[in-house]
Amino acid sequence: MSFFQSFTRPILFKLSAESAHNVGIKTLQTTLSSKFAQDFAARHLEANLFDNLERFGLNFKNPIGVAAGFDKNGIAVDQLAALGFGFVEVGTVTYKPQTGNPKPRLFRLPGDQALINRLGFNNDGAIAVTARLANLKRRCVVGVNIGKNKDVPNEEAAANYLKSFDLIYPAADYVAVNISSPNTPHLRELQKAENLESLLSSLQQRNAFLTKGVGLQNIRRGHPESETHNDLTRDKKPLLLKIAPDLNESDIESIVDIALRYEVAGIIATNTTTSRAGIKKSDIANFGAGGLSGKPLAQLSTDVISMIFRYSKGKLPIIGVGGIFSAADAFEKIAAGAALIQAYTGFVYGGPTFARDVNIGLAAIIKERGFAAIEDAVGSGVKM
Ligand code: FNR
Repeated sequence: MSFFQSFTRPILFKLSAESAHNVGIKTLQTTLSSKFAQDFAARHLEANLFDNLERFGLNFKNPIGVAAGFDKNGIAVDQLAALGFGFVEVGTVTYKPQTGNPKPRLFRLPGDQALINRLGFNNDGAIAVTARLANLKRRCVVGVNIGKNKDVPNEEAAANYLKSFDLIYPAADYVAVNISSPNTPHLRELQKAENLESLLSSLQQRNAFLTKGVGLQNIRRGHPESETHNDLTRDKKPLLLKIAPDLNESDIESIVDIALRYEVAGIIATNTTTSRAGIKKSDIANFGAGGLSGKPLAQLSTDVISMIFRYSKGKLPIIGVGGIFSAADAFEKIAAGAALIQAYTGFVYGGPTFARDVNIGLAAIIKERGFAAIEDAVGSGVKM
């Protein structure tokens, strides 16, 4: 057991889950606020475990990222990078700020190594988050996950996403389009073919338009501060889709087909589940509605990843997320087809050394299994 698990976690877990999260992220933000402190923290990281990790035109220092929802407002991105994460997905950000659902809305299920949340996109809004991201040192790749405001009907969803997209475009290395949170009524209906096509068509048109203008400025500026030296001469901003685990095979087939046609850069699989089937030790009557994350989600998410890999014939980069607690869990996702991975719940239970532990363990597993590089392991467990 780590110091975090035996000492810090029991104290934090005496607080409500949402208060503990706020204390945790605030502590991270303040203790690692200076470049000196971040460099100091980053010194315990093993450098160069993963060489040349290029995904959709971006260079990643390592394959493990912080999943959306952990740093909704982009207040601790450089700090999370200093803990060893190769990327942080900020958000979900909506165009207008939102307070989210009434509390309590986040619950721990320690016996099941899980969380249930119905936060409902509480966030500072796209204007405030974009301004904050402009001041980052950018120690890692920074994605921004965008969603729809609760009071906007699905018929007007595209216009609402576009307003966020316009704002965050210059601040995001990639943009994740969230159409899978269970806590915004009807959001998941945007995964249906007709809705998805119209949303992606609007976003990619705007993407192409913005890239023509902003791309040139970025090339001239050269982003000298960036440690990731990303290629800003690419065609369009990488646009990824984040999907639910509660889809059947034909839904997934249709999403993959649309994603390929609309030049989506990758799929993030998966968001939380509305199913309670995986809960064995907790009384589900205590929690009410919301998305379940952590261990009970692991297999559902891995199954979705391997389906996407199979249907896309390995052509669509997948970010695998759902129930990763260890390097072995991370490898399972990679073998199922994930080119990158993310975690939220495993990080909450595992603490500050989580990313470092997963990275070191994963590099060892890849070597042990005889793969020359992580690329060779991607999809290695999928029968095509
Ligand atoms: C999330 N998740 C999430 N996803 C998203 O796209 N936008 C969001 O705002 C949030 N918010 C959020 C809050 C909380 C408290 C949790 C636990 C999760 C989902 C998250 O990014 C991830 O997809 C799932 O949690 C599955 O991964 P883990 O937690 O099992 O590693």
